Amino acid sequence: MSALRFSDTISAALADGTLIVTIDNAPVNALSADVRTGLMGAFEHAEKDGNIAGIVLTGAGSSFVGGADIKEFGKPPVEPHLPDVIARIEAFAKPVVAAINGVALGGGLEVALACHRRLAAPAAKLGLPEVKLGIVPGAGGTQRLPRLAGIAAAIDMIANGRIVSAAEALKLGVVDSVSPDTLLADAIADAKSTNAAALRRTGHLSIPAEAVEAIDKAASDALRKSRAQHAPAEAVRLVRLAASVSLSEGLAEERRTFIELRDSEEAAALRHVFFAERAAGKVEGLEAVAPRKIEIIGIVGTGLMGSGIALSALNGGYRVIGVEQNAEAAQKGRDRIAGLLDKAVQSGRLDAAGREDRSGRLTVTADMEQLEQADIVIEAVFDDLTVKTELFQRLDAIVRADAILATNTSYLDPDVIAAATRLPERVVGLHFFSPANIMRLLEVVNCRKTAPDVLATALVLAKRFGKLPIVSGVTEGFIGNRIFSAYRREAEYMVEDGASPQEIDAALEAYGFPMGPFAVFDMAGLEIAWARRKRQAATRDPAERYVIIPDRLCEAGRFGQKTGRGWYAYPDGKRTVDPEVTAMIETARAEKGIVPKSFTKEEIVSRLLKAMVDEGDALLSEGIAARASDIDLVMINGYGFPASKGGPMFAAGRR
Ligand code: 3HC
Repeated sequence: MSALRFSDTISAALADGTLIVTIDNAPVNALSADVRTGLMGAFEHAEKDGNIAGIVLTGAGSSFVGGADIKEFGKPPVEPHLPDVIARIEAFAKPVVAAINGVALGGGLEVALACHRRLAAPAAKLGLPEVKLGIVPGAGGTQRLPRLAGIAAAIDMIANGRIVSAAEALKLGVVDSVSPDTLLADAIADAKSTNAAALRRTGHLSIPAEAVEAIDKAASDALRKSRAQHAPAEAVRLVRLAASVSLSEGLAEERRTFIELRDSEEAAALRHVFFAERAAGKVEGLEAVAPRKIEIIGIVGTGLMGSGIALSALNGGYRVIGVEQNAEAAQKGRDRIAGLLDKAVQSGRLDAAGREDRSGRLTVTADMEQLEQADIVIEAVFDDLTVKTELFQRLDAIVRADAILATNTSYLDPDVIAAATRLPERVVGLHFFSPANIMRLLEVVNCRKTAPDVLATALVLAKRFGKLPIVSGVTEGFIGNRIFSAYRREAEYMVEDGASPQEIDAALEAYGFPMGPFAVFDMAGLEIAWARRKRQAATRDPAERYVIIPDRLCEAGRFGQKTGRGWYAYPDGKRTVDPEVTAMIETARAEKGIVPKSFTKEEIVSRLLKAMVDEGDALLSEGIAARASDIDLVMINGYGFPASKGGPMFAAGRR
């Protein structure tokens, strides 16, 4: 083999008449200008060289191609453009085979779709996740994928940004075969055996016939999930268009839509979210710290929260020891976790073997001494300081000296819990959100004495649990609940000032929240915040503005949805404005002599956004949050802030 180089990132080697072209642009082989130039050079060379009968295109490392280079978005475009590179590949007169060795996403899959044959490694993942960035595929994905997989499957993949395995891609017709061990050799053999006179060009294929109902269902399913975002609807439109116009017309319309969306606020916000997620969980100075080895995880408490944490740990491949107070509670815990596993199987997220494997790694016991085997213990018991400190003292005496103790508190001070142990440096906070097996957000609380390797271990664990870890310092409510409290306070002020709860909810829902704050309060229940306010009453600054309405709701037994009444009434479960609440609000205003004002939707959103941002700025200046983008991620992933607005800090900056 002789090595050739076409750019910094594109090299090639001739093997037995086939040119193996390798894209090597770490970390994910994104299609930067250098890659595109190199690819054009390689095809130019292969066209002219009579010794080359075909091309195999592959990626270096563990990716095929992770997509267009997102870092180039927002900058002036540089030639050659990706659609031109792709057109060159598809039109090439000699066979071009994609050897998909790893992820083929976005532009990466679009490159593969333009090749004449596609072979994939079993671990490859394929998808067009552009909608997650607020855009649609811009290099033929919406027009070529349906020609291979059909309209319904293409809508499902593109409008949901759903990534599929190699096995599913094979079933859908997106790849021609899966090569267990010898991908490159198989791809070379494939290129050699392909008849250059009858190349299968995806863009020339007609769309397979399929039932209209299946297409309509795929479209309505995708649109239902996409809420306030524009890209999924555009993706559906473009895929449908593929059935009625020529390839070139479809490509032109796709490109026009791609550029329009790429330059939109929504796409800028979602790009911000993408890079925010990559930055999250990175702590300065921690890169050099080796995490502790974790194999066995103890979980104290297997109620709603503990069982969700247990499932996340089992999904992460760990052995789990759940601990309960007695044998009966242990049985209940076992049943609860088994129920979650069953649900995962029923929904198709888990197969029978996966269930078996997870069950085999789980023990639930009433014998706390068994935690001496654990490498980390996570407590998920009632959020009460005495309960938690006593538990930590017991655990401190049971677990090994190098084991980590994690508290899943929402509001208590983990430094106080840590101080009750002999080794406070091994204590860390892990604030899960409910349901813990579903919610991605995990606040990792770096306590005053947490050792760096304990923090590093918690971050590794969080990733293995499939979570998005955000590091928070110690403060009441950590990052999320502190901002949420500010949001709650401001929403209540606004009610006093003249806005109705339903006006505020409607404004926030129009902005993109799945639910406005008052509907959320009712869903979560009003009594916990009431109890906290009562606890704080003695120390509250009497000069501070205080809204009495939520206390009065609770005094009237209106604890929210579960009692059928809260900020709203729920006859037959339906959220309805309750004149009794309207009267309570009017009374409270009158007592303070407030003349109610009216608010526009925009004013409501601005005021709530400002309250969140002021609290966010305070968290940054106190060093509780490391970066504004962490705050955005917490609010998006834990509190329903619309991702398409980029989070409160980002959104405020754009205004
Ligand atoms: N462009 C530029 N940088 C990218 C990138 C891309 N498409 N994809 C990933 N990166 C960078 C990340 O920012 C990160 O950088 P950092 O180390 O400086 O933080 C690094 O690559 C590694 O990324 P991850 O931490 O996410 O690594 P993982 O191994 O966990 O995941 C991945 C790899 C699955 C490829 C994941 O990064 C991913 O999903 N990337 C985005 C895929 C995507 O959306 N592609 C579509 C792009 S738009 C497009 O192609 C338009 C086209 O239709 C014209």
